Amino acid sequence: MADFKIAPSILAADFARIGEEVDNVIKSGADVVHFDVMDNHYVPNLTIGPLVCDALRKHGVTADIDVHLMVKPVDRIIPDFIDAGASYITFHPEASEHIDRTLQMIREGGCKSGLVFNPATPLSILKHVMDKVDIILLMSVNPGFGGQSFIPETLVKLREARKMIDESGYDITLEIDGGVKVDNIKEVAEAGADMFVAGSAVFNAKNDKDADVYNTVIKQFRDELAKVGK
Ligand code: DX5
Ligand code: ZN
Repeated sequence: MADFKIAPSILAADFARIGEEVDNVIKSGADVVHFDVMDNHYVPNLTIGPLVCDALRKHGVTADIDVHLMVKPVDRIIPDFIDAGASYITFHPEASEHIDRTLQMIREGGCKSGLVFNPATPLSILKHVMDKVDIILLMSVNPGFGGQSFIPETLVKLREARKMIDESGYDITLEIDGGVKVDNIKEVAEAGADMFVAGSAVFNAKNDKDADVYNTVIKQFRDELAKVGK
């Protein structure tokens, strides 16, 4: 099986018990913690910042933390996330005046760098920075909220991004974010994604399972991914 990574978005977790929630999803087989940062400016919602990332590290979380910045401007806050223990830092090109410089700042801080593409943002901006991205994140919903429906056109864009990555020869992860569920993850993987953010699909699953164990839904994702290409 390809090296698929499942990245639960803690936006849908219980914020009053965030450390425990993260421990539980990792224990249940998730690979990466997706960390949504919203500023009530670039997107119409307000969430968590570097203090919470640092708190998760101090709590003992060792899994990769994938910081998705939905903030504008981005440069001021990047060093804070580097210091707070982020593993990946991705940002929206619309939120940086100097995309190349922002990408370099992230890598110089020892983190993996990436660009995030909204549903209507073309991939053309990648052309001259393919050597500076470790990850490309395609939004399959408009950013700002969890629980929205997957926009099908993203499958076309995923195939386009996959082609660009393969032709570039660089080792770049292709991440998808928004509306990923057990019933569409296979199709999304077949279109080229290899890292899957899932918020509501993971954290809302707890209602029908024993308290805080996310094993079931993560296993369902893995079972679907095992069918890719078959
Ligand atoms: C949306 C966020 C997503 C969101 C995904 O702006 O970037 O990470 O939490 O949530 P679901 O999986 O519920 O669409
Ligand atoms: Zn996100």
